[in-house]
Amino acid sequence: MNFSTEPFGQTAQGEDVFLYTLTSAKGLRARITNFGAILVSLEVPDRHGKLDDITLGFDHLEQYLEQKAYLGATVGRYANRIGNARFVLDGVEHKLAANDGPNHLHGGIKGFDKVVWKPVETTATEDQAWAKLGYLSPDGAEGYPGNLRCTVTYMLTNDDELRISYEAETDKKTVFNLTNHTYWDLARRGGGNVFGHELMLNATRFTIVDKTLIPVGVTASVVDTPLDFLAPKALGSRVRQLGNGYDHNFVLNGPLNALKFCARVYEPTTGRIMEITTTEPAVQLYTGNFLDGSIIGKAGKRYGRHAAFCLETQHYPDSPNKPSFPSTVLEPGQKFTSLTVHKFSAK
Ligand code: BGC
Repeated sequence: MNFSTEPFGQTAQGEDVFLYTLTSAKGLRARITNFGAILVSLEVPDRHGKLDDITLGFDHLEQYLEQKAYLGATVGRYANRIGNARFVLDGVEHKLAANDGPNHLHGGIKGFDKVVWKPVETTATEDQAWAKLGYLSPDGAEGYPGNLRCTVTYMLTNDDELRISYEAETDKKTVFNLTNHTYWDLARRGGGNVFGHELMLNATRFTIVDKTLIPVGVTASVVDTPLDFLAPKALGSRVRQLGNGYDHNFVLNGPLNALKFCARVYEPTTGRIMEITTTEPAVQLYTGNFLDGSIIGKAGKRYGRHAAFCLETQHYPDSPNKPSFPSTVLEPGQKFTSLTVHKFSAK
């Protein structure tokens, strides 16, 4: 396997930003930047062996510096929403930036997607190539307690996998929930919608939310609802019943912290298949409902509503305020680890 590094530009503060390219022996190619620890592109073969980039994104760093849609980004400290932008830990209230109505979304105003990560290691062996990036989020950043050191590793393997793993440690009790926010379009149309993709989700329950997308605290069965993807179904088959599209958090069946099946997506026109396994307890399915055509992405393509989907492995939204949900508390001395594997094939 191979890797290479090239300059990608500079931030307004003059920080150097790089682009790392990982290539597998079969030609799969991932490009990652240390700005926002963003997955810039991922090229995988279709059923005829033709490689295409199946992610939404930009050609230039400047567009990543300004984007608000989290294309390809590492999202933290807390991916998804925290209700009323506050939580209480050991009797102390922590106030966060309210950047989504009254709520806190995706780590706040300057989340992990908007900072420069330090290259820790980029290397390749016969079977794997990886880029490991690190970031120290200072105590009080966006309102969160604790100096939090974390790393994200993007690894491409000769088994046609993209493995995204996280590690973190804190010096004060805090909350933590990282995800990757790649927008996928396995047909790589870049325009139109992704409703022809067939999705299977290993989730019998989902978190019920209020109108600002904050969980009310209980889960419900997907059976007999448009959220039932227990058997494969076209993403668009029942989307009309939902109004704007999917933006739902599904509770994964299986053990809480062990690697388990999450989702399988099949795109019939190209034959591409993406299978996701994860150690996370839930996944947010988001069908690009807020893409409105104002973003002009790679090769000048305009990204409209439903032009892609995200499958963001993570904890349940608003867990810091929901004692019955699996805990997102990270204590000093604990080591946070998390792994999500995307395996690609075609038929
Ligand atoms: C959320 C959406 C949000 C989007 C922002 C998704 O993870 O679920 O509600 O609008 O991210 O890009």
